[in-house]
Amino acid sequence: MRITKESFGKDFIWGVSTAAYQIEGAHQHDGKGPSIWDTFVKRRNKIAKNQNGDIACDFYNRYENDLKLMQKMHITNYRFSISWSRIQPDGMGKINLAGIDFYNRLIDFSLSLGITPWITLYHWDLPQELEKKGGWTNREVKDWFGQYVAICIQYFGDRVKNWIVINEPTVFSAAGYFFGVHAPGKKGLDNFLAAAHHAALAQAHGGRIIKSLQSASHVGTTFSCSHVEPFSYKEKDLIAAKKADVLLNRLFIEPLLGMGYPTHEIKVLRKIERYMKQNDEVDLKFDMDFIGVQNYTREVIRHSFFVPFLQAKIVSAKKRKVEQTAMNWEVYPESMFHILKKFDAYPNIPPLIITENGAAFEDSVMEGKVDDPKRVQYIREVIEQVFRAKSEGINVKGYFVWTFLDNFEWAEGYHPRFGLVHVDFKTQQRIIKSSGHWYTDFLR
Ligand code: BGC
Repeated sequence: MRITKESFGKDFIWGVSTAAYQIEGAHQHDGKGPSIWDTFVKRRNKIAKNQNGDIACDFYNRYENDLKLMQKMHITNYRFSISWSRIQPDGMGKINLAGIDFYNRLIDFSLSLGITPWITLYHWDLPQELEKKGGWTNREVKDWFGQYVAICIQYFGDRVKNWIVINEPTVFSAAGYFFGVHAPGKKGLDNFLAAAHHAALAQAHGGRIIKSLQSASHVGTTFSCSHVEPFSYKEKDLIAAKKADVLLNRLFIEPLLGMGYPTHEIKVLRKIERYMKQNDEVDLKFDMDFIGVQNYTREVIRHSFFVPFLQAKIVSAKKRKVEQTAMNWEVYPESMFHILKKFDAYPNIPPLIITENGAAFEDSVMEGKVDDPKRVQYIREVIEQVFRAKSEGINVKGYFVWTFLDNFEWAEGYHPRFGLVHVDFKTQQRIIKSSGHWYTDFLR
């Protein structure tokens, strides 16, 4: 059976996602303060080829043409993020009206084209001034974040209804505060646990603030997740897979649902309690209107004596000799089905929306065209898996492709291209790839 947009029903939400630092550029224009990413990219050898997002897709100056392209592609829902340090250059206190003006223009122009905005309030670009005070490791971040959220609702809430509080807390707390491979480049268990706990508090706190200021809002938050499978059925591998599942999929959703942290499988996680105060357990819980699921691959996990804390490691796609993307992730569309099933199984789970999914492949421009059959196939097969989940009664309400434009892929720089639209970073020329044409035909 051929699956079409109609198969999903008329209320199903289709869109594309982006993030401020990855596309906007204009890193110090119109009063914007530096973020931890502006600072991190200037450190030697942190980013592939020492690239940075100073210009990126120059979306800050080109958003009108980009939104017109989006409209031409029949995309009617656009998820983007707000750069906190454009709104509050120091992360607290003074509001930068030029920053407010940019997002007002972006929102108004989207609406005028019939494109509904979905705003992510935090997609990893913490104001540098706050990092100087400890960033996510400082408990006060919850209140700084709360004030910033309130400003966004006050200025944009008259036109924007769909809010995403935080993008993937697991990734920014682990990559940024444990491994040190993302901004701000901190390392170690203590930094990670503190950042994780404060991010978990902030996700619920942000949700509460939005609802208190805008009761008709539609609020969610997003989680990175990967279907986890054990390398073998040996007991050691089964245990390793369970531990990886805690970190990759369960750490942030469970406290949000009021279940507390999943510390049972990983003893060392109990140290997170050091950062908890009275009432935190209650404060971590918040009833979101939807949960944003972001899935790209599956992970196969085996026991490893040498990995501290976990004794578990990922068996890479390369080692397993399976098909991979330019990120070296396994091409495995079925992961989406398993993840939707897993999240749906939580009691009292709100509706699920896939707020990111896509793939990076080597693209090339030939005679003015970009033919990317692998991306077309991947997205089509994932959409089939979403349909399979929906047919089994799973409450999934939307799907957003990551991403609209090729962009700055964090520590990987500009090499991995995830876009439906190709960007020539020298000329800023845009070309709709075959995947973009495919998505347009699907949406039409
Ligand atoms: C992030 C995006 C990122 C994408 C692909 C997600 O983890 O939210 O910012 O570009 O995955 O790596």
